[in-house]
Amino acid sequence: MIKIAPSLLSSDFANLSLDVRQMDELGADYLHIDVMDGHFVPNITIGPLVVKAIRPYSKLPFDVHLMIEQPERYVEDFVQAGANLVTVHVEASPHLQRTLGMIRSLGARASVALNPHTPISMIEHVLDQLDMILIMTVNPGFGGQSFIHSMVQKIADTRNMLAARGFGEIDIEVDGGINRETAEQVRKAGATVLVAGNAIFTADDRKEEISLLRGN
Ligand code: DX5
Ligand code: ZN
Repeated sequence: MIKIAPSLLSSDFANLSLDVRQMDELGADYLHIDVMDGHFVPNITIGPLVVKAIRPYSKLPFDVHLMIEQPERYVEDFVQAGANLVTVHVEASPHLQRTLGMIRSLGARASVALNPHTPISMIEHVLDQLDMILIMTVNPGFGGQSFIHSMVQKIADTRNMLAARGFGEIDIEVDGGINRETAEQVRKAGATVLVAGNAIFTADDRKEEISLLRGN
């Protein structure tokens, strides 16, 4: 029921293929790939060429989190590189409805991310175009930040909104500061997909960590 999406941001970039392959072997559900452009967020990470290069090393669905301005310009490149699920930020997408439609028309699943301060009302009229909602539980840009506790209520509010509108099947993903304690809180609030970077990649036993985050 609960899916775990290890964030490659915390992996060893000099040996990316090893970590990518290991996440398959350890039973992760998705591979979360953080794309940053130095404009929407302060950091710069990876582009479609790297996604394409690591694609042969994993059978997991690639969950590509675009923290970039004008994401519609790059959606097709990322899908062609191997993205199965594409998340765009509502704050970066003035024509969100069109962009989500584009993602699905390319054959990928569509998702939208909300920064911590962004109200969930921003997405209430595009629910029919969503496969997943990503609630940021840190301000995006870096791994290893502390979980923002007021986001637990936001996750619960999102779950209630989805139930009230008949969209209970939409996944709620959470990203940022997820560890064993915060994982339990967000699972109880209604999250179904948990991103974890530091918690998994710094664990002594990564397989055990994935299982504990899942709640097993
Ligand atoms: C932050 C990224 C996250 C990040 C999470 O902007 O979107 O995916 O890698 O890292 P942790 O789990 O270490 O907070
Ligand atoms: Zn992310």
